[in-house]
Amino acid sequence: MEKYKLIGPITQLIGLEKLSLKGSVKDENLNLIENAGILIRNHKIDAIGSYSELKEKVTALNAKVVMVELKANHVCVPGFIDAHTHICFAGSRARDYAMRNAGKSYLEIAEAGGGIWDTVMQTRNATQEELSHNVIKRANLLLKKGITTIEVKSGYGLSTPEELKMLRAIKNANLNTEADLIATCLAGHMLPKDYEGDHQSYLEHISNTLFPILKEENLSNRIDAFIEKSAFMPSDIYPYFRKAKAMEFDITVHADQFSTGGSEVAVNINAISADHLEASTEDEIEMIAKSNVVAVALPGASIGLGCNFTPARKILDAGGIVAIASDWNPGSAPMGDLLTQATILGTFEKLSNAEILAGITYRAAAALNLSDRGRLVPDMLADFNLFETDHYNEIFYHQGKLTPAQVWKKGELIYS
Ligand code: NIG
Ligand code: FE
Repeated sequence: MEKYKLIGPITQLIGLEKLSLKGSVKDENLNLIENAGILIRNHKIDAIGSYSELKEKVTALNAKVVMVELKANHVCVPGFIDAHTHICFAGSRARDYAMRNAGKSYLEIAEAGGGIWDTVMQTRNATQEELSHNVIKRANLLLKKGITTIEVKSGYGLSTPEELKMLRAIKNANLNTEADLIATCLAGHMLPKDYEGDHQSYLEHISNTLFPILKEENLSNRIDAFIEKSAFMPSDIYPYFRKAKAMEFDITVHADQFSTGGSEVAVNINAISADHLEASTEDEIEMIAKSNVVAVALPGASIGLGCNFTPARKILDAGGIVAIASDWNPGSAPMGDLLTQATILGTFEKLSNAEILAGITYRAAAALNLSDRGRLVPDMLADFNLFETDHYNEIFYHQGKLTPAQVWKKGELIYS
């Protein structure tokens, strides 16, 4: 028998059904519903609307309906989506952080045994089970803060067997958390120090040996690479991405973090997203904004490194799609708190609350090429958060300190 649930009355419900995918959006267009209800059928949204009208509708249904009556003021928003994380890792890089704040350069930190390679060493030393456990623990922390979908990258293995270990750990973690984990292969994070060959030959080796297994074991349908002088140059990456596209992988790029070049690759290759963009100039901003590539701002990396923020305001004003993600990783972005970071980005970049919310919901879904979530409309997954407050402004005003009173995932209350 079909299972219905009716939740309400909700003081303000923001379904985001009318906001555009591209460009700036204003709070006036949030189109919120007051005294709302949300009707769930199995794991999807059946209807949203006036609570009293939905109540009438369900009594006429002649089906079993579970009524979830709310006693206090609540604001309902879609489940948040963190479209860029590196939460599959072992160890800590607290020493890097201290050295960076003491004024040491990237090179000095790397020479002292820090940087990405340090995490590669620590992650290679961990078992698949340990990594899986770490991912589940971190995913569950995010879930309590209302993040119901989490992208998770590999990229600390940097060899076919070690990347496989990471991606299998993520797949296993996905089976053991209520959050949806979307795995991305980031074998193109840097040239591993122990690889005997150049950048091109490493990427060729990865695409020949790892890509087919990703398909066979259904480990990931997304390929990412770090385009930067310290990692891979556009000329190395084009053949790698072309091969990935020919095998029907989605492409995402770490682009323009410290120097430009990556966003042009993202546009030329028709990537789903270009992430970072802190170094993008007017030309890159214009190019990204005109394309369908989602620009993913990563304020957590700016806060972790003490660098400037992604020019989110300019990208939106130029008509681009801006998602916001945490980049949670042990090196540049150890905080891992999406709502806090998104609101801080909003403060510095002058984003409307609607733009912040869009960035961590339906625009983040677009960054993951997911069309079944990110807005509260019929037939989408019933992933949503209830904040105990009487006005949505409070959620942003508290800069992450106000956390959801209830988190619902696929029609089930999973945290309260
Ligand atoms: O997204 N930019 C490159 N990669 C990560 C940092 C990874 C690390 O330092 O461990 C990032 O910021
Ligand atoms: Fe990253």
